[in-house]
Amino acid sequence: MAIFIDSSDPKEIKDLFAWGVLSGVTTNPLIIAKEAPDADLGERIREVISVSWGDVSVELTTETEKEMLEEAATYHAWDPKRICIKVPFSEIGLRVLHQLTKKGVKTNVTCLMAMNQAYLAALAGATYVSIFSGRVRDMGYDVRPVITNTRNILDRENLPSKIIVGSMRHMMDVNEALECGAHVPTITPPILRKMVWHPRTIETINEFNTAWRNRGKR
Ligand code: E4P
Repeated sequence: MAIFIDSSDPKEIKDLFAWGVLSGVTTNPLIIAKEAPDADLGERIREVISVSWGDVSVELTTETEKEMLEEAATYHAWDPKRICIKVPFSEIGLRVLHQLTKKGVKTNVTCLMAMNQAYLAALAGATYVSIFSGRVRDMGYDVRPVITNTRNILDRENLPSKIIVGSMRHMMDVNEALECGAHVPTITPPILRKMVWHPRTIETINEFNTAWRNRGKR
């Protein structure tokens, strides 16, 4: 079991890795376009790598097989051990995935909304298959059976792909992903911070510390 952070912000990533609970990073073009529209992608990702550990997913943005493989080679060279090529799921995506798998490159097949898609990606050798919780729910469907059924089929067929669940909108989405068998929830910084917070915990710590400071006083 592991938790990844869904962000490209080196400052936030450094701060949150210091908790000792994270073991990887996922980014996507939308996150980077929002967080750092003017950044050089290579510099940004190298900075992320320097303040974290584990796999760092970087997504392909081109759309032909040739371009995607070239783009993947560029990203892979930034850190062959840690860069995980995020491949958008499609027929071309599967072809690219197959090529990268043959070369031993780590992959994260992304934008998955259904078990059948995740199964194909796993058969083609994906290191990770990323199911998008919030976006499945946006369409009015329950994401829980998608995660559970994917986990069941991976286990039944001994497929080594790990299920990442992303597109988290609420803390409850993280809990559900874990309960349904996701190997890795990828969580945005605000939701991760909410996982720490509980009013009764704060109240209890205050009660203990106040009692300690006031010990011996009447
Ligand atoms: C996961 O790897 C993606 O980066 C991400 O969670 C997508 O989330 P969104 O639906 O908020 O764009």
